[in-house]
Amino acid sequence: MNNTFYLTTPIYYVNDKPHIGHAYTTILADVLTRYHKLRGQDVFFLTGLDEHGQKVQQAAAKRGMEPQDHCDDLAPNFTQLWDKLEIKYDDFIRTTEERHKKVVREALQKVHDAGDIYVDEYEGWYSVSEERFITETEKDSGEFRDVKKLKEKNYFFKMSKYQDRLIKHIEDNPAFIQPEHRKNEILGFLRQPLNDLCISRPKERLNWGIELPFDSDYVTYVWFDALLNYTSAPGYLSDEDKFSKWWPASVHLIGKDILTTHCVYWPTMLFSLGVELPKTVFAHGWWLMGESKMSKSLGNVVSPLDLIEEYGVDPVRYYLMREMVLGQDANFTMESFIKRFNSDLANDFGNLLNRLSGLIGKYFDGVVPDPGELTEAEQDLQARATGLDEKIVELIDNFHVNEAIEETLQVVRFINKYMEAQAPWKVAKEDVKAAGRILYAAAETLRICAVHLAPVMPDKCSQVLHVMGCENLHSAWGGLLPGVKLKEHEALFPRLEINE
Ligand code: MSP
Repeated sequence: MNNTFYLTTPIYYVNDKPHIGHAYTTILADVLTRYHKLRGQDVFFLTGLDEHGQKVQQAAAKRGMEPQDHCDDLAPNFTQLWDKLEIKYDDFIRTTEERHKKVVREALQKVHDAGDIYVDEYEGWYSVSEERFITETEKDSGEFRDVKKLKEKNYFFKMSKYQDRLIKHIEDNPAFIQPEHRKNEILGFLRQPLNDLCISRPKERLNWGIELPFDSDYVTYVWFDALLNYTSAPGYLSDEDKFSKWWPASVHLIGKDILTTHCVYWPTMLFSLGVELPKTVFAHGWWLMGESKMSKSLGNVVSPLDLIEEYGVDPVRYYLMREMVLGQDANFTMESFIKRFNSDLANDFGNLLNRLSGLIGKYFDGVVPDPGELTEAEQDLQARATGLDEKIVELIDNFHVNEAIEETLQVVRFINKYMEAQAPWKVAKEDVKAAGRILYAAAETLRICAVHLAPVMPDKCSQVLHVMGCENLHSAWGGLLPGVKLKEHEALFPRLEINE
């Protein structure tokens, strides 16, 4: 069995300060990474920054800076936020790094040598904000800003040549574009004849980009450059062993806004290069504020930094992962955030730890009791706890992250019910041994739940495991050792009072 897993996020435009939308994809990648590591896979998680193109050049000019200085100045906004959010990537690629530029130049030359690039003069409507030629219909839609007529000689990639092959690939590989409705969207798009892709920009108009290896008057179109990051980072054309270890990527995580570039441009580029396609491109929906997409240009963004300062990292990660059904849009509201926090984290999860450590403190001097022989009630609990392994693997393989969390929370809720039904505080008065059995079973089940929630809330779950004296992430029954003294702890998630 292939035990490697390679996943990527989009590389973000360096101009924007990262908002919750950007943080979301990156947290999701981190959570998936941790789930895959938990099952023993060797994982490579890549993220980074998209630093070329017109928008960056203009933003730098506005600040009176050289584009490279502008990028160097802004890049730490991302890396520092990722650190704060406990995001543990394996590589961070910036498209202005030489290791990437070299691969882009060589790949362009290869595509050129394969006869897939030609030069043509093109006249049409050009959208400065979108950095591309738009069709007459798009122009008439009025949705594009800064539109002007432009006549230019440019280089084109023969994307049309690969149209049929791409359709066949999508049809033969149902896992390639997910979820299903995005696959249908792309197949619908491919029913029209596919245009070739303009992959150059004349330097007189834009010089912040990677120079074409076969014409120094031009730089590379930013998407042709950016998409190659997924291969340049794991060693394409530079480190054969590393590249063959990780490629093809297991999954490119993207937002639905960049579906066409990833499901049409990118695979046809790879066809031309003779490189295998990624196994899956998964497009998630948007975080909305009310009816509209959260985006900087609409001025309705939530700052991840403000949120984590106020509520801590883990609740923010938890909310984003629990609240969005992957593939659909989700609404960000403070009301739902606080509700989730109080019901799932404070009431169900955090209180349970308090209760258990309190009772073990009171009746066993804080020392984990011996379970003795389990009765049917504990065996039921044990089966629910150990059954999580298989369920979660399947849910995560299908990108049902919210359901993987919910499965675990249901077990947590079940422990609470079990405690109510067994009432160990009453039992302890007559039969200490039986109370020990009940408390052990409840605590061990909670430990196993903490292991399964650790990918989402690494910090709080490791606190739980620390209290129980078993820091490793083993989900098999019996990890909690009788005789171990529980460590003192504070409330995990103190309830939030709603401020009017
Ligand atoms: N630079 C390109 C991607 C190149 S990948 C080879 C780009 N960058 S971006 O900064 O605009 O980031 C886009 C990604 O950020 C989206 O695909 C999505 O993953 C994430 N999101 C940005 N806003 C979002 C929401 N409101 N909601 C959810 N995710 C969003 O496009």
